[in-house]
Amino acid sequence: MDFDIKDISLADKGKKSVDWANKSMPVLNMIKKRFEDEKPLKGMRLGACLHVTTETASLMETLKAGGATVSLCASNPLSTQDYVAAYLVKYHEIPVFAINGEDTDTYYSHINSVLDTRPTLTMDDGADLVSTIHSGRQELIEEIVGGTEETTTGVIRLRAMAQDGVLRFPLVAVNDANTKHMFDNRYGTGQSTMDGIIRATNRLIAGSIFVVCGYGWCSKGLAMRASGLGANVVVTEVNPLRALEAVMDGYRVMLISEAAEIGDFFCTLTGDMNVIRKEHFLKMKDGAIVANSGHFNVELDIDGLKEISAHTGRIRDFIDGYKLEDGRCIYILGEGRLVNLAAAEGHPSSVMDMSFANQALSAEYLIKMGKSLENIVYGVPEDIDNDIARLKLESMGIKIDTLTPEQEKYLNSWEMGT
Ligand code: ADE
Repeated sequence: MDFDIKDISLADKGKKSVDWANKSMPVLNMIKKRFEDEKPLKGMRLGACLHVTTETASLMETLKAGGATVSLCASNPLSTQDYVAAYLVKYHEIPVFAINGEDTDTYYSHINSVLDTRPTLTMDDGADLVSTIHSGRQELIEEIVGGTEETTTGVIRLRAMAQDGVLRFPLVAVNDANTKHMFDNRYGTGQSTMDGIIRATNRLIAGSIFVVCGYGWCSKGLAMRASGLGANVVVTEVNPLRALEAVMDGYRVMLISEAAEIGDFFCTLTGDMNVIRKEHFLKMKDGAIVANSGHFNVELDIDGLKEISAHTGRIRDFIDGYKLEDGRCIYILGEGRLVNLAAAEGHPSSVMDMSFANQALSAEYLIKMGKSLENIVYGVPEDIDNDIARLKLESMGIKIDTLTPEQEKYLNSWEMGT
């Protein structure tokens, strides 16, 4: 079996971590049991480009239990948990191509190693697999039934491809399921981003000015957690509706050029590029701590920062210092890559449980639908989304009420008014 990982001897550590994560993934475990019996993915070759974490290991095991032949590469050079990669190779004979800290060439050669397995289904986190197929590996397209996409950034890329008429197989936007973005993006990103910033810096959040760039689901989660830890939260936005929502949620909203002057911590979660630029770095206070938790490392203009400062080196794990001409220092976390996975362990298992349940069931859905789907981006079917919410509540031992026949009738009628 072909694979490329850091060190196979880490496999036992990986096993312990995956066992621990599994305890918080009841919905995925239920799906795995059904998959073992029904084998709905039988005969499929599934190529996955995901963060190689303990939770992803559970997903890979589930897909394999469903009858698929799976292979996995990293969706970010800094997020791979090397012990998980070793675990999947040793205990499940899953070809993994991922090494934490790999350079860009290795990152893409790993993507191509997964593509060399000729996947019939793709599973992406950021759309690098799909974009590599469309730009250089088109010979694979004929055999591909479809693919799934985990993240906001990836869905935006895929919609752009569909709009340009270049998308050549159907995709399911897992990110858009309610049981994904309402929990993973908000509570998962909120907690794990705070975790990454705190692990990297060990600084007190209380009493600080914490600037959150963007106010989508991920940013909302972070603003909530920073505020909960006692920070004075400032939000920057380009969308008037979101900016208004941030104001009414109780945060100060201002221009990034104003926020740059007062922030102690900055974190971008916008999905766009060069959100914090040279002119903003130049205004920052001495000691400002700057991170990104958006998918790609394009949100901070680090090249611009390098032009106006001297790199003073790695201060401690995950922190690089940059000295401006007048002596002020700015600290960048995790090289501007998503700090929740670079400096911490990503979202907790309990939210990934729902995200990856959506992944597994969307893969099953794509196979069921076969060639009947068009080459566009689909949402996760509503019944899958609702089932996942129901199963998650059940696993938490929480019961909810049902409508009485009278209430149901009332909701379906228009005659009854005041
Ligand atoms: N994305 C964010 N957190 C993650 C995790 N724990 N595993 C896989 N993908 C993730």
